[in-house]
Amino acid sequence: MKPRVLLTHPLLPEAMNYLAEQVELELATKEMILPKSELLERIRDKQGLLCFLTDIVDREVIDRAPLLKIIANCAVGINNIDISYARNRGILVTNTPEVLTEATADLTMALILATTRRLLEADRFCREGRFQGWKIDLLLGQELSGRTLGIIGFGRIGQAVARRAKAFNLRVIYYDPKPALPEEERELKAEFRPLDELLKQADIISIHASLTPENYHLISKEKLKLMKKNSVLINVARGPIVEEKALAEALKNGQLWSAGLDVYENEPKIEPELLKMERVVLLPHIGSATYETRSKMCFMAVNNLLQGLRGERPDNLVEPS
Ligand code: DGY
Repeated sequence: MKPRVLLTHPLLPEAMNYLAEQVELELATKEMILPKSELLERIRDKQGLLCFLTDIVDREVIDRAPLLKIIANCAVGINNIDISYARNRGILVTNTPEVLTEATADLTMALILATTRRLLEADRFCREGRFQGWKIDLLLGQELSGRTLGIIGFGRIGQAVARRAKAFNLRVIYYDPKPALPEEERELKAEFRPLDELLKQADIISIHASLTPENYHLISKEKLKLMKKNSVLINVARGPIVEEKALAEALKNGQLWSAGLDVYENEPKIEPELLKMERVVLLPHIGSATYETRSKMCFMAVNNLLQGLRGERPDNLVEPS
């Protein structure tokens, strides 16, 4: 008999068809959000769960699933899952690391350029028919060459951003509770700084840390005050790492030049003040959204799931920290 699997939302078609051949598949919804009551109801008799970052898999959900062997998250971030509780119950948890590193680093550079060079304002300016000719002070932005990029979280994605930054002649400093090896620092021309020092020195700050209880509001109102006047904040990691209301305030009072955000504290809701700001660039969590990367993520999640269901150790098993 094939194992019963709950897929919370559709995968890309090829991966979903492949999965459907291997297991008895139930698709919970085609909508973006699956109500918790639905998840609780549908998980009861399943051995496998393939879910996404929008699905909160907490104790209540895990307790509702006595037969569950594996939770395969189709994302690298796993803050949506109570990993310790799952592992205590003998349930494996997996994620999709590495395949999204380059796409996410590309999007980070896109946000850095879009904010410093005011690309979205300029695009709106043209569309609104306001371009009347070249002008010496039209939509002036900030130059990247020679400026300092501060990377918070120096794992795979943070390091991939540092690699790209070299091509833009940015000076790179970074903060991570686990500093990189000296040879990595040399290769990336990146220097470690304690968090407060990084906030004081960087012109552009880009967040690539995981969301853990320690990192909740890591960039708080107090930390935002340490940032340089006219600096830029980029977040493609997880929204709750930044105190969003305080960020809106810092932008409103002119301390920060701009922010480039792909993630939000209460996703998909966005702080209304941010929506009103011309210079801020807001994206709908598309850091990994390329055909290539999303396809790899889907197949990786499916393979992890199938390995777990077969009683094998999945390639991308996440251990509780
Ligand atoms: C992740 O995988 O954690 C990203 O946020 C979505 O690709």
